Amino acid sequence: MESGHFQKLFEPVNIGSMEVKNRIVMPAMYTNLGTADGFVTEQTKAYYESRAEGGAGLIITEIVCIDFPIGRPHFHELSIDNDKYIPGMIELVNAIHRHGAKVALQLHHAGAETTNYICGGQAVGPSAVPALNKGVPHELSNNEIKRLVRCYAKAAERAKKSGFDGIEIHAAHYYLLAQFLSRRWNRRQDKYGGSLHNRSRFLLEIIMNVRRAVGPGFPILCRINGAEPGIEYGQTLEEAKEVAHRVEGASVDAIHVSALGGGAHALVGGPEVIEPGALVPLASEIKKIVIVPVIAVGRIHNPILAETILREGKADLVAIGRGLIADPELPQKAFSIRLEDIRPCICCLDCIENVVYKQIPIECSVNATVGKEFGHRIESAREKKTVIVIGGGPAGMEAARMAAIRGHKVTLYEKSFNLGGQLLYASIPPYKSNISAFVDYLVNQLNKLGVTIKLGKEILPSEVTTLGPDVVIIATGPIPLLPDIPQIEEANPVSVEAVLSGQASIGDEVIVIGGGMVGCETAEFLVDRGKKVTVLEILDRLAIGMIPVLRFPLLTRLREKGVTLFTGVKYEKIRNGELTITDKTGNQIKLKAETIIIATGSKPNDKWILLKEKLPELYFIGDCVEPCGIKEAIATGNQVACSI
Ligand SMILES: Cc1cc2nc3c(=O)[nH]c(=O)nc-3n(C[C@H](O)[C@H](O)[C@H](O)COP(=O)(O)O)c2cc1C
Repeated sequence: MESGHFQKLFEPVNIGSMEVKNRIVMPAMYTNLGTADGFVTEQTKAYYESRAEGGAGLIITEIVCIDFPIGRPHFHELSIDNDKYIPGMIELVNAIHRHGAKVALQLHHAGAETTNYICGGQAVGPSAVPALNKGVPHELSNNEIKRLVRCYAKAAERAKKSGFDGIEIHAAHYYLLAQFLSRRWNRRQDKYGGSLHNRSRFLLEIIMNVRRAVGPGFPILCRINGAEPGIEYGQTLEEAKEVAHRVEGASVDAIHVSALGGGAHALVGGPEVIEPGALVPLASEIKKIVIVPVIAVGRIHNPILAETILREGKADLVAIGRGLIADPELPQKAFSIRLEDIRPCICCLDCIENVVYKQIPIECSVNATVGKEFGHRIESAREKKTVIVIGGGPAGMEAARMAAIRGHKVTLYEKSFNLGGQLLYASIPPYKSNISAFVDYLVNQLNKLGVTIKLGKEILPSEVTTLGPDVVIIATGPIPLLPDIPQIEEANPVSVEAVLSGQASIGDEVIVIGGGMVGCETAEFLVDRGKKVTVLEILDRLAIGMIPVLRFPLLTRLREKGVTLFTGVKYEKIRNGELTITDKTGNQIKLKAETIIIATGSKPNDKWILLKEKLPELYFIGDCVEPCGIKEAIATGNQVACSI
C-alpha cells in the first residue's frame, strides 16, 4: 500500500471557521467517567486526550446535559448548565488541543428517554408518549419549551467560553429533539406538532438562539437521524432531508447523519451490529441537497472503507466511534499505513452495556486500558525475564503480547495448531465474524514482537519445571461441563466447538442442551444450515447475561427461523436416542434427536496448580480460573503481563 492511499482521509477540511486537520471524527460516545454531579474527571480528560493523541481530527464529546438533572439519562452524564462546569471543561479542551485535534461539545437533553430515579422527577417530552421502555413523560408547555431554548443557548455560550471549537446539537437517536422531530413521539396539536415544519420548530429555534449566543463565526454542528427504520411513524429519509435543509438554512455548519431503529433494527444509529457503512447511503442522500459538510457514521472502522466513502463523495467526514474506543491510535496507524497494527472493534457492545445498562464506566473487550487511561503507562520491565505462557487463547495471547512489549523474552505454547482458543469458535456464528479480525491482530502482533510460538505442543508440567523459566502464565482455558443427565454419554453428545469447527457430523434433528448465549448462537448457526433445532435451558430465561440489544434480536431470529425453545426444563433421562424432559408446566416430553450438542458451560481447570510450590512466579489467567468472556480474558492477561 502506498502512502497516498489515504489522501482524502488526511486532507484538511473546514467546518465553518474551524479547520480540521483530517476527516476523522470521533463521534459522541457516552463514557460514564464524569462525576455524579456532572463534572469532568481526570479519567474523562485522559480518555479524550489519548484519542486526540491518536490522531483524530475532530473529537465530539459525549452527551453533555443542558438542563441538569431532569435532562440526563445516565447518572454520570457531564453537564454544562451552569458556569461552575467551565473550569473542568477548559481542562478537557486543553488536553485535547495539546495534540492538534479540534473538539466540539455535544449539547444534549434526554427528554422522555430517562427514568425518574436518574433525572430526579418526571421526564419531559413533546407529548405524554413514553419513550422505549420508559414512563409517561410530562408534555412540555410552550413556556417550558422557551426556557429550554434559552438553556441550549446558554450552554453553547459556556462551551464557547470553555474554549471548545464548536458545538454539536444532538437531535438524533431517541432523545428530546429527535422526539420532537418524529411523529412517533410528537403528537402535539400546537405550533410544535403536526407538520414537519412544526415538528422542527423547536430545533430551529434552538439553532437560531444558539447562533445568536455564540456569534456568526462559531461552528455549530447538528446530529440528526437520517431515518428511523422499524419505528412506527418513525422519520423517513425524505423527512430527514427536509430537516437537513431547514437546519442548514438556520446557520448550521455541518450535518452529522446517524439513525434510529426499532425491532430487528434495534438502535441502528447506536452501536448495534450493522454492516460496515450501512448508514452511509443516508448521509450521501443528505449530502446531495446541502452545501455544508456532511459527516457519515456507522461501523466505518476500516480506513479503506472510510477513504472510499470520501473519495466517492458520499460524505465530507467520517465518524469512527467504537473503532477509536478499541484503538485510539487508529488514525495514526492508518496514516503510516500500518493497518495490521489496528486493534479492531469486535462489535460486542460491551462498551454500551457498561455505560447504558450497568451505568458503570466504559470498558472495551479488546482494549484493557479503556476508561483507565489516567495514570496508565506501559513501562519497560526493570528486570527482563524469561516467560512461558501456556495456552494461545485471548488471555494467553494478550499476556504474551504485553509481556513482550515490556521487554520480556516470551515463549507461548499452544497444544492445537492454531492460535485463538475459544475465539476461533466464537467467531463462527452469525454476526460474530469480527472476532476473527481480532485474532489476526493478536497473532500479527505476537509475530512482530518476536514471541516464540510453539504450536501443536502440549507441554507437560515436568517439562516446564525442567525449562526453569522466571515466570509461567497459565491460560489453558476451562474444562467443559457435562449436564447432569443419567446416561448422557450413551447419546455421544458433541461439543459446540466440534459443531462450529465442522469436526462433528450433525444429524438433521438436533437438541442443544444449554440455552445460554453460546447455545443460542449455535442453534442459529445450525438452523441456518437447514437443521431442525431444539434448545433446552434449565433456567427461566434464554441467553441470560447477553446484552439486551443483542439478546432480543437473537431470540427473535431464532423464533422466526423456527427453532423450538424450552426454558425451565428438568432433564430426566436419555434412552435409545430419546431425551425425556419435564417442561416448566410439569409435563413430561420425549424429544428425539440425531445429535445432542452440549452448551452447558465450563468449569475452572486446576491441572497446573501442582506447580505452585515449584516455580518462582506462577500466574493463572482467563477462564482456567473461572469461566469468563473475552473482556475478562484480555483484562487478566494484560494485568498480569503489566505486573511481572
Ligand atoms: C458506548 C457508546 C456511547 C454512545 N454515546 C453516544 C452519545 O453520547 N451521543 C451520541 O450522539 N451518540 C452516542 N453513541 C453513538 C455513536 O456516536 C455512534 O453513532 C455509534 O457508535 C456508531 O458508530 P460506530 O459504528 O463507529 O461505533 C454511542 C455509542 C457507543 C458505542
